[in-house]
Amino acid sequence: MTGSPHHGGAASGGTPARRRSLNVPRSHHFRGSLGRFATGVAIVTFDGTTKRHGITVNSFTSVSMDPPLVLVSIARSTTAHDELAGRPFTVNILGAEQRQLAMHFAGRPVDEPLWVEGVSAPRLGNVLAYFECTPWAAYDGGDHTLYLGEVQDFNYRKGDALAYANSSFTTIPEDQLGMEDLL
Ligand SMILES: Cc1cc2nc3c(=O)[nH]c(=O)nc-3n(C[C@H](O)[C@H](O)[C@H](O)COP(=O)(O)O)c2cc1C
Repeated sequence: MTGSPHHGGAASGGTPARRRSLNVPRSHHFRGSLGRFATGVAIVTFDGTTKRHGITVNSFTSVSMDPPLVLVSIARSTTAHDELAGRPFTVNILGAEQRQLAMHFAGRPVDEPLWVEGVSAPRLGNVLAYFECTPWAAYDGGDHTLYLGEVQDFNYRKGDALAYANSSFTTIPEDQLGMEDLL
């Protein structure tokens, strides 16, 4: 990887207090509280050693403009987790009509999706936007790892966005003026 810290950089280690986990009702409440934060929905795609991976995420965050960096938080328990370390990946942002695709890569496979061979990493066809990344850094995030990628290629199309809030999919219509049009 280029850039700075890999696993365990600034966020490694931790005091016993930081490692304390929540009891079950608190953890349910914690999830519910986090779920009130409305997000988009994305799929991280990449080629592993023996197979092509895709994992649905809503933890996508833009991090930096210069250099252009984005972040996804991946659970250590997922099959994608270990293989993603040090590999190029694409963040595919989903459109409103792509709920099935979101579920496909969240453990409910349906038909094989349309793949596109990207320059840095494989991506999915017809998505609302995509960011092809080379690995930048990976930080310890408790039972997740924060993977930062440096964006090498990106694009978007017109269309409504798929969103996720209160544990449900919803839609954000395109026909609202964005800040980029107002500034
Ligand atoms: C809307 C939505 C958002 C999700 N966001 C994340 C996420 O940000 N990080 C993550 O590790 N898993 C996330 N998941 C769960 C993974 O998609 C799911 O655990 C994955 O299918 C595991 O793949 P595996 O069974 O191959 O390990 C999300 C699932 C859904 C439906």
